[in-house]
Amino acid sequence: MGLGYVGSAAAAGLSKSGHDVLGLDVDRGRVADYQQGRVHIIEPDLPEMIQSSLRTGKLRFLHNDDVSEELGDLVLIATGTPPSANGAADLSQVRTALRWLRDRVSPGTVVVMKSTVPPGTGMNIVENELVSTGIRYVSVPEFLREGNAMHDWFHPDRIVVGADDTESAEVAKAMHTGIDAPFLVTDITSAELIKYASNAFLATKISFINEIASLCDIVGASIDDVTHGVAMDPRIGGASMRAGVGYGGSCFPKDVRALDYLALTNGHNFELLRSAITVNNRQRLLPLHALRERFGRLSGIKVAVLGLSFKPGTGDMREAPSVDLIQALTEDNAEISTYDPVVNSPARAGLTENVRVCSGIQESVEGAQAIVVMTEWGEIIKADWDALSQSMELPKFLFDGRNCLDRDKMIGHGLEYRGVGRNGAVRRGVAPDLCQRARTE
Ligand code: UGA
Repeated sequence: MGLGYVGSAAAAGLSKSGHDVLGLDVDRGRVADYQQGRVHIIEPDLPEMIQSSLRTGKLRFLHNDDVSEELGDLVLIATGTPPSANGAADLSQVRTALRWLRDRVSPGTVVVMKSTVPPGTGMNIVENELVSTGIRYVSVPEFLREGNAMHDWFHPDRIVVGADDTESAEVAKAMHTGIDAPFLVTDITSAELIKYASNAFLATKISFINEIASLCDIVGASIDDVTHGVAMDPRIGGASMRAGVGYGGSCFPKDVRALDYLALTNGHNFELLRSAITVNNRQRLLPLHALRERFGRLSGIKVAVLGLSFKPGTGDMREAPSVDLIQALTEDNAEISTYDPVVNSPARAGLTENVRVCSGIQESVEGAQAIVVMTEWGEIIKADWDALSQSMELPKFLFDGRNCLDRDKMIGHGLEYRGVGRNGAVRRGVAPDLCQRARTE
């Protein structure tokens, strides 16, 4: 139930593994598109897998109102849990889905909660909404990354199942047939908290390395070398340790705020999480401060913003750092042009009409005095930076918000390079081949 990122990936993955899958949504247009194999989101391999399962007949799509049959042995809920104004997760779609399915399943059916719901929600559902229905409930949090969803579906680090009884856990296990991954069974509330704790930890790790990047600029160290050296400790590791303009997307910002809200409303001040949020909000505007420092007033300054989506490989603009930056630049009356390989219209970008959305990098950069890279798309990294530099106006200021470009090469192209935590380090007399280059995968 719910053909968003998670539901679509689940429908594709489950049908590919041989299950008979019925994909449901309340959006008629979306369902009609899916029936034709047209997918509304940018996600590698997803359309192909859906089209292939449509052909084999393992996958069908219907609007909720058109369902006349009884639903299957297992109903997976993947409806949205967007943030409400106070930061709490809005569970109205989940509750509507539960009410709807209650009359369409027989006792013994297992409801699998894939939507990210705050710890305690599952037990509340079990004790109130499903009590004496005979419907079973398991929590199976999802750990898919956008842009890698299908890979992550088939190669997860772990499958977590929060269940109250063995039979339900077994059904949830059977759902993952053919997938080789550690299988962890917990109680329902712990499974829910595993999801939030994972995202909150990763977000905190990003904010932590961003704080270290700020210190690098102050004391004259290189964030690349520092991250590399720190990540060599296997207890720390290098994942989610890339400094930059901060995390965005539909998950980290929402889940971190929801966990903060949950803690607060239960009388616990989760200070560390608060700090992670504060740091992340600050990171988004780093390019603005760098531009103000370089140009003074930004009124009339031509700035090209390269990359709009919250990360490469997706067209998702939810909580994208580029949105906050562009809004701030607009308030400063900068002349903004943008380019993104996927987000290629103002409507898609959710931007105001006065922001120029270009159809190529070169067009966007032509005549600009400054470039800000907000998303590390391969196309942007591999661009002909010499040509870009030549088409710019002085001072050819470049803010690499994802530290994805080679600083020395950019300087060689005549650009005034600024990165995140890359601005203070001075390489002195050591031969470059003796210097371990920083690589954090
Ligand atoms: C995240 C988690 O990584 C998934 O495990 C989880 O399932 C998903 O949320 C979810 O809750 O549904 P996702 O939002 O797709 O996945 O993307 P990530 O690759 O984790 O990146 C999130 C944000 O952090 C992006 O804006 C990215 O640019 C930023 N980031 C990531 C950094 O700034 N530095 C890093 O080192 C890593």
